[in-house]
Amino acid sequence: VIEKKVDALLKQMSLEEKVGQMAQVSIESLGNTKGNVFTFSDKMKDAVVNYKIGSILNTPGLQTAGDWNRIITEIHQAALQTRAKIPVLYGLDHIHGVNYVAGGTLFPQQIAQAATWNRQLVYNAGVITAYESRAAGVPWTFSPVLDLGTNPVWPRIWEGFGEDPYLTSELGVQFVKAVQEPLGNKEKLVVSLKHYMAYSDPKSGKDRTDAWIPEHYLREYHLPAFAAAIKANARNVMVNSALINGIPTHINKHILTGILKSELGFTGFIVTDWQDIENVYRRDKMTNNIKEAIALAINAGIDMSMIPYDYKAFCTDLIALVKEGKVSQARIDDAVRRILRVKYETGIFETPVTYVKDYPKFGSAEFEQAAYNTAAESITLLKNTNNVLPLRANAKVLVTGPNANSMRTLNGGWSYSWQGEKTDEYAAKYNTILEALQKKLGAGNIVYEQGVAYKMQGKYFEDSIVNIEAAVQAAANVDYVLLCIGENSYTETPGNTNDLSLSASQLALSSALIKTGKPVVVILNEGRPRIISSIEPGAAAIVDVFLPGNFGADALADVLTGVVNPSGKLPITYPRYTNDLAGYIHKPSEGSGNPQGGETAPQYPFGFGLSYTSFSYSKLTINKNNFDPAETATITVTVTNTGNKPGKEVVQLYITDLVASLTPDVKRLRGFEKVELQPGESKTVTFRISLKQLAFVGTDLKKHLEAGAFNIQAGTLQQVFTINKTLVF
Ligand code: IFM
Repeated sequence: VIEKKVDALLKQMSLEEKVGQMAQVSIESLGNTKGNVFTFSDKMKDAVVNYKIGSILNTPGLQTAGDWNRIITEIHQAALQTRAKIPVLYGLDHIHGVNYVAGGTLFPQQIAQAATWNRQLVYNAGVITAYESRAAGVPWTFSPVLDLGTNPVWPRIWEGFGEDPYLTSELGVQFVKAVQEPLGNKEKLVVSLKHYMAYSDPKSGKDRTDAWIPEHYLREYHLPAFAAAIKANARNVMVNSALINGIPTHINKHILTGILKSELGFTGFIVTDWQDIENVYRRDKMTNNIKEAIALAINAGIDMSMIPYDYKAFCTDLIALVKEGKVSQARIDDAVRRILRVKYETGIFETPVTYVKDYPKFGSAEFEQAAYNTAAESITLLKNTNNVLPLRANAKVLVTGPNANSMRTLNGGWSYSWQGEKTDEYAAKYNTILEALQKKLGAGNIVYEQGVAYKMQGKYFEDSIVNIEAAVQAAANVDYVLLCIGENSYTETPGNTNDLSLSASQLALSSALIKTGKPVVVILNEGRPRIISSIEPGAAAIVDVFLPGNFGADALADVLTGVVNPSGKLPITYPRYTNDLAGYIHKPSEGSGNPQGGETAPQYPFGFGLSYTSFSYSKLTINKNNFDPAETATITVTVTNTGNKPGKEVVQLYITDLVASLTPDVKRLRGFEKVELQPGESKTVTFRISLKQLAFVGTDLKKHLEAGAFNIQAGTLQQVFTINKTLVF
């Protein structure tokens, strides 16, 4: 039915109307914000009515969901003045929920969601994000990020689900289903898988810089999460802003049309990232002017341009390119067909505006509880010498560090100005770490000294010393020091860093406090794993909260006091050295297994996280020892809570190809399940592994599942099985 509607509409449309659909304009360029009120100017009418632009994004500094409703209504009224009356698709980065200025619910950022290793929690976050986005009237979110966190220096690693292709695929699929299914329902919206692909793996570690990755590696590691999400029917993809192997991804026809549209059968539309067609000309020096860049990008498979340098010139240039025969009418029709298809599927033709009054659960206590639950399961206990945690009842605690009293650092980037708010003052409703602990332990038991504060220096967020001595003196009168360190929040390139070490002033504060001899509990509140190796030995306990969102501090207070038993596991490798940033997926090397040799000895490995109870693994079984490659293996393992507290454990299944014609990875995650166990309780977890999923991508770009032995690992248990013949597919 939708295809018929698309055909009928497309037949009536002029070339001008078609290219208009392919442009996406930023809202703040279409009006003015006075105080907190945004009003459109004639520019909006010009864009929507005269140029018939297909999409608008971004925020002009709004305050409430009602403001969003009003603005989207006005945009739609303008669209109704056009001949074709095609609704404008409005998009926004609701990357970890809808922010509190709109009254919505901010979840932990994706990296923290991944640390839960809990599919259901990621699904719940998606359902609520979709509901609240539609309440605000927004039918398209630029999430999830499926870029792998393979380079810990990269400043956007926290936007994704960590470094592992399987974990990212599993959680990405949950999010896509939660947000989109069933598309057309008024509580659902369109996702954008971003940033297709390998955006996260630049050689320099700096944002929007080039990656050099052979195609068989692209397919082995970076493609699977996108492929899985497309199989789950994701309807939009945003493109990697940078270059892969010297080619700007925005003009890479092989990657966009060849792999994404033809091979994976993607029938949604591809949007550029911000001004990235212009970048092909200005930054990448691939063309003599922007018009040539438009031709390259559209011919490569781009369907919609996010922020063309100038939408009027974009439309004029694209029309001229068609008339000159440099872009075919068929390519334009294909692009517009894809955009219209998604507009119909989303239901915005029938219901162009949705209103917060029809969404009674918007910002509800139920949703806040869900965000708290996610934060509680994401908190990852990395060290706990002599069970220093949970804190003793009635203990006196010094709370210190630049992250101790900030909502901004708990939420991380994109949460504030991008979603309509500019300062911390609106955060009064939520608790910082300091506030949560004052409430939990009693204000009289808390002493606060900031020690180090953040300030903006030059282009980058850095920190400066406030008063380390005061913090050291305050430590004399307490039982514990709670040292809240990490990073300031940042979005995109301002987060670039030249040094992954924790900043010098934070290291100085940490060392000074460790020297006091008081038990120092380090709270890491950071988007990427800053190197802490010089202070780690002196810390009594270390807790990574990542970027836990508006309820993260409440969850942390409950973990510190033992109300919540931590169950987060690292979705990334925590590096020990600035020059040893390899992830857990790596090839064997000389000195393998010897930390002094060539092998990686991270501070904490991928998948690591402690609990206040203990677990043991037994009875690792496999249903056969020898398999045909087309078969599915059934693997079971029993896990027992051997401690005296209820707890949750993530059972992780790793399978290693022992010998292969392309050096196999030392370890690969192939399954995981989170289970809850009472003291003394055992559960048996069953994994059904289609053996084809163990194939590697060869240099011929085909998948190879080679005959031979494979090793299974769960906890400390291991088992070997064999595959009896080779399959290439
Ligand atoms: O969605 C984002 C993207 O991740 C980075 N550039 C801007 C886009 C729209 O805000």
